[in-house]
Amino acid sequence: MKKIAIIGAGRVGESTAQILAKEELCRELVLLDIHDGLPQGVALDIQESASLLRFDTRVTGDTNPAAMADADIIIVTAGIPRKPGMSRSDVLETNLSIIDKIVSDALQYAPNAMMIMVTNPVDVLTWYAWQKSGWPRQRVFGQSGALDTARMTSFIAMETGYSVKDISALVLGGHGDAMVPLPRFTDIAGIPISHFLSEEKIQKINQRTRQGGGEILALKQHSSAYDSPAAAVAEMVDAISHNRRRILPCVSVLEGEYGQHDIAMGVPSVLDESGLSDIIELELTTDELAEFQASAKMVSADIATLR
Ligand code: LAC
Repeated sequence: MKKIAIIGAGRVGESTAQILAKEELCRELVLLDIHDGLPQGVALDIQESASLLRFDTRVTGDTNPAAMADADIIIVTAGIPRKPGMSRSDVLETNLSIIDKIVSDALQYAPNAMMIMVTNPVDVLTWYAWQKSGWPRQRVFGQSGALDTARMTSFIAMETGYSVKDISALVLGGHGDAMVPLPRFTDIAGIPISHFLSEEKIQKINQRTRQGGGEILALKQHSSAYDSPAAAVAEMVDAISHNRRRILPCVSVLEGEYGQHDIAMGVPSVLDESGLSDIIELELTTDELAEFQASAKMVSADIATLR
């Protein structure tokens, strides 16, 4: 991976840049923001940690969208975050106009890039960016499942005391309170989670996962989560830049999979150097499917307001 552009030098953008730079996931990293001084300052601060953290990634900041020229990946974090009590949908209108401009810039300066959407409401905005860009879904997708699954994994580790390294969890659906944690596809070292935890404990973990973002926002009051969202983006970039063909739940545009059309939401997807190269369709139980459909309905309702 030669060049990555991160749009938005807020907390998620900055944390993402730190990880990508340190892990040397690209040669050149550009942070873009509309507030002059901010992306330059953030980039310089990260760049000055290079000799300490021992990385050769070149990090720069700019306000001119032309600085994203020929980026291989554009990571979109720009937008207003929600405040306590708001849902992710409540920031749709404001963030839509921001994304609109970013997609226009991407079409002009980096028409062959892939775009990873992070800004909320991420499912709706991924769908919008895909539609507006005219790019194949392979090149426009979003981050949410990697984060939601990481949260579920952490809660299982906290509850059982086992290593996160042995835990594999799965969360599908929209990135909202109706997301669908799937304990049936969750295990510790290959052993089903039901071996370790009672149904009641599993349900509590599911519920905490659904409200994971809100829990942090309620605690911090003035900021949403950014460390774990950034790490989740970095995991996706790592899969792409190393052509790993990892299966990660990503916000993917669905073209008939799971019975859904003209929508973007979280499903297990294959990430490789071409981007989102495949979608894995699971056979869901009646209950799981009903939850998935309920989540889809909420995403569709937001998408309908954009038509
Ligand atoms: C979260 C927000 C950022 O889940 O969507 O933390």
